[in-house]
Amino acid sequence: MTQAATERLSLRERLQRERGRVWVVGHRGAMGYCPENTLVSFERGLELGADWIELDVHLSADGALIVIHDETLDRTTNGHGLVREHTLAQLRELDAGQGQQLMTLPEVLEWARAKDVVVDIEIKNAPIFYDGISEAVVDVVKAVDMTDNVIVISFDHAAVKGVKQREPKIATGVLYACRPTDAGIGLARATGADAVLPHWAYVTREDVALAHDAGLAVAPWATSDPTILRNLITSGVDAIGTNHPDVLRNLLGGQR
Ligand code: G3P
Ligand code: CA
Repeated sequence: MTQAATERLSLRERLQRERGRVWVVGHRGAMGYCPENTLVSFERGLELGADWIELDVHLSADGALIVIHDETLDRTTNGHGLVREHTLAQLRELDAGQGQQLMTLPEVLEWARAKDVVVDIEIKNAPIFYDGISEAVVDVVKAVDMTDNVIVISFDHAAVKGVKQREPKIATGVLYACRPTDAGIGLARATGADAVLPHWAYVTREDVALAHDAGLAVAPWATSDPTILRNLITSGVDAIGTNHPDVLRNLLGGQR
C-alpha cells in the first residue's frame, strides 16, 4: 500500500491493517517531563516521538469539555474544588503548571489536526457522572473533522458504548485494570469497541493473540520502564501509553 493510500485510512482501519507496529502513546502528553494535559506537554510528546497524544476530559459548569485528569482542580492547578462547579471563564484563570492554561477538547483537536496526530481521548466519568459527555465528545470530534483520527476510551464502558452509538466511525476502546477471563473480548463486544486497553500489568501474550483473533487492537497503559516496555512489545501489543515517549520510541528503533 502506498503512503498516500495509508494516509487516507481512518484510525479504525489502520488499527486493523497495521498489526505489528507499536503506536507510541504520549500519556497526558509527556507527563514525565511537563505539566500533564497541557499544550507544552502535548508539544513535547510529539517532539519525543509520540504517534498518539492521550488526554482526559471533564465537563465544566457551562458544558465545556475541559482537558484535565482529575475531577478536582487541586492537584494539577492553583484552583480548588470540582471542575464541574467552575465555568470555562473561571477555569481559564487558573495555572495548570509552568504558566500553562487549561485547554478545551476542541482546542487540542484543532492543534492535533494541524499536526496530523492521533488524539486518544479518555472520558473521565467517575466518580462524577456528567450527563451527555459521550455525545458532547462525539459532536466536538465531528465538528473539527477529526472523526478518523481519534480514539475515545473510558473506564466507564457505558460512555464508550454511547460514543459508538452516536458515531460508529469513531474508534473506541475499553479501559480496565484486571485480567478478564476472555482477554477483554466480552467487554469490547458489549460496547462495540475496536480496542481493549488493559493496565500493562495484566497483559499476556496469549490474551493479545486472542484479542487480535477477535479483531481487536490491544493498547495497554502506562509505563516508562524499559524492561516492561520490551515485554509488552514482545507480547505483540499495538500501542503503549507512556509518560516518556522517547524511551519507547528509542526501544522501537527511533523510527516513526
Ligand atoms: O490511557 C489510559 C490511562 O490514562 C488511564 O489511567 O489514570 O492515567 O487516566 P489514568
Ligand atoms: Ca487517562
